[in-house]
Amino acid sequence: MQATVQAQPNIALIKYWGKRDAALNLPAAGSLSITLDALHTRTSVRFDDALADDDIVLNGKRDEAQTRRLGAFLDLFRTRAQVDTRAHVESTNDFPTGAGLASSASGFAALAVATDHALNTNLTPRELSILARRGSGSAARSIFGGFVEMAAGTRADGEDACATPLLDADEWPLAVVVAITTRAAKATSSRDGMEDSRRTSPFYRDWIATVHADLVDARAAVHARDFAKLVDTSEASCLTMHAVMLSTRPGLVYWNAATVDCIHRIREMRRTGTAVFFTIDAGPQVKAVCLPEHAEAVASALRDVHGVEEALVSGLGAGARIIEADG
Ligand code: DP6
Repeated sequence: MQATVQAQPNIALIKYWGKRDAALNLPAAGSLSITLDALHTRTSVRFDDALADDDIVLNGKRDEAQTRRLGAFLDLFRTRAQVDTRAHVESTNDFPTGAGLASSASGFAALAVATDHALNTNLTPRELSILARRGSGSAARSIFGGFVEMAAGTRADGEDACATPLLDADEWPLAVVVAITTRAAKATSSRDGMEDSRRTSPFYRDWIATVHADLVDARAAVHARDFAKLVDTSEASCLTMHAVMLSTRPGLVYWNAATVDCIHRIREMRRTGTAVFFTIDAGPQVKAVCLPEHAEAVASALRDVHGVEEALVSGLGAGARIIEADG
């Protein structure tokens, strides 16, 4: 049985940075995100009795560490389906991988949905979100489209740590301009970085304590389609997370000069009447969230920032879905 799934990355407005349990990949706090439509991961999964080992090809390459990580993820599904069959997995991104563009989010969401179909496990979206989380915390959110909230949950087994959709993409069609300032992969992964922050940042506990109130605000802003309120909460969540990153030992400086210039450019546009705010993840790319009618002006302003290689415009998109299947 085989299936091909398309999933898109999501961008957190209220950030996830820290785990309450590393083994089950349980977040220490909730998060809130928007799923994009212009960046795509396509993942094909085929289980084959003739294979002795999983054969995993990511963006045309085989990599031992990734094969182990994805193989362990496939085991979660094999255990449920009570099979031992190995799989051939082929996954490609049409955007830079591992550079702060949430490739692990779309990657594990696509892999979860494709594996579920290929093994006929018939999981619900909630169960898929819980399993996608085991691959990558942010992947739990890419199961769904539009505006999505991730719950930290309280259960030790993680069965309540999953995402739920808040609004569909077309219920509040915002745009996101992604300013790419480098295509190089980042030096410290989110996974390692957030664990270092938990262990060493003097601000870590205070950061986790801020998330609940930010989520309440952001959720209300989303339901009310209140852009001004979303500006405030989202920039605060992003900058507070980066304060924790900077105060980690050794300090995690994910920004470059162009990142900082984009922040100033976006705030300047806002001062002169453009509805736009920034958010930045564990990498130097800047995502400018704006009303669709401002997207081209924002993209062109960011393209003029020295060091910006490209500015992509995206709308909000759907969750992970099957685009081809048989068996
Ligand atoms: C900064 O979901 O990649 O993008 O759960 O360890 O795989 P793991 O981490 P990951 O971290 C995302 C961190 C972030 C913020 C966010 O997306 O909420």
